[in-house]
Amino acid sequence: MTSTLKSLRTLSDPTRLRIVALLEKDELSVNELQEITRLGQSRISTHLGLLQDSGLVQSRREGKRTFYKLNTVANGAVGEIMQLAMRGAKELPEHGGDQINLRRILNRRREQEQVYFNQVAGRFDRVYGPGRSWQAFGHLLLRILPPLTVADLGSGEGLLSELLARRCKKVIAVDNSEKIVAFGAAKAKRNNLKNLEFRLGDLQNPPLEPESVDLVILSQALHHAQEPARAIRSAGRILKPGGQVMILELAKHGFAKARELYGDRWLGFAESDLHRWLEEAGFKKIEINVVAREEQPPHFETMLASGQK
Ligand SMILES: C[S@@+](CC[C@H](N)C(=O)[O-])C[C@H]1O[C@@H](n2cnc3c(N)ncnc32)[C@H](O)[C@@H]1O
Repeated sequence: MTSTLKSLRTLSDPTRLRIVALLEKDELSVNELQEITRLGQSRISTHLGLLQDSGLVQSRREGKRTFYKLNTVANGAVGEIMQLAMRGAKELPEHGGDQINLRRILNRRREQEQVYFNQVAGRFDRVYGPGRSWQAFGHLLLRILPPLTVADLGSGEGLLSELLARRCKKVIAVDNSEKIVAFGAAKAKRNNLKNLEFRLGDLQNPPLEPESVDLVILSQALHHAQEPARAIRSAGRILKPGGQVMILELAKHGFAKARELYGDRWLGFAESDLHRWLEEAGFKKIEINVVAREEQPPHFETMLASGQK
């Protein structure tokens, strides 16, 4: 039988016309169709099966539920038949009631979606949300970065370097721990990041050519340096004119145990210290803000300091 004849035969039944008219606005599950039409579940399923066999309706599974919707690709003769079917459906005595019930069901669905967000409004940013993470936000922000050459000084194993390498032209990660450099380099190789190079060296005198990078990053590294001001001067040396230094650093704190726990040399810095060192190194457009505060004691605060060469 041709698809035209099959469609005509399928749509010659008033119940199937009702269903088709309901699926015009949105996809619906069998339960929802049952609630709207007050027909039995098996009857609805049988009609949906026939509509699917004729290619007039398609389905999508979501967990345990299946949603049905009109097959929108129907065109030519079948498309015309569908238009006629819609017109015919409007003449059915149940049509008015069906449409009222449909609106009620769709409104209820929308309200259910909003209930959660209304409940968490005001604390949404602090509660868990599937798929929301700083890592994902980081990737999003990276996409707006131009293809830079970056030096990550005191890089550690390359948490940030790896993220940057997925977007930047080249990333040079410098660390003075042989083991960390070996581990970071092996991990970069495993992750096939050919533009990420690890170099063993001191962040106070990094093994990089003068004026060779667009961006220098010092993330939680400065408080390990014997002479933080020298590290900032070195950042200025390796930056191209117009390049940027970005420093993530702990604000001055009194948690002395950080020395033995994390090997820290300095207990963070005052904002004024960072500002002075950046200024003395010749940086312009200096900006320093506290960008994070930990909820647990000792409530470490992170500053983000930046400057342009
Ligand atoms: C706290 S970790 C920070 C790692 C990374 N930047 C991050 O934010 O995840 C500090 C790193 O700096 C390195 N480091 C300490 N003193 C250094 C120095 N003088 N020169 C180069 N790296 C140094 C350590 O080996 C360590 O990997």
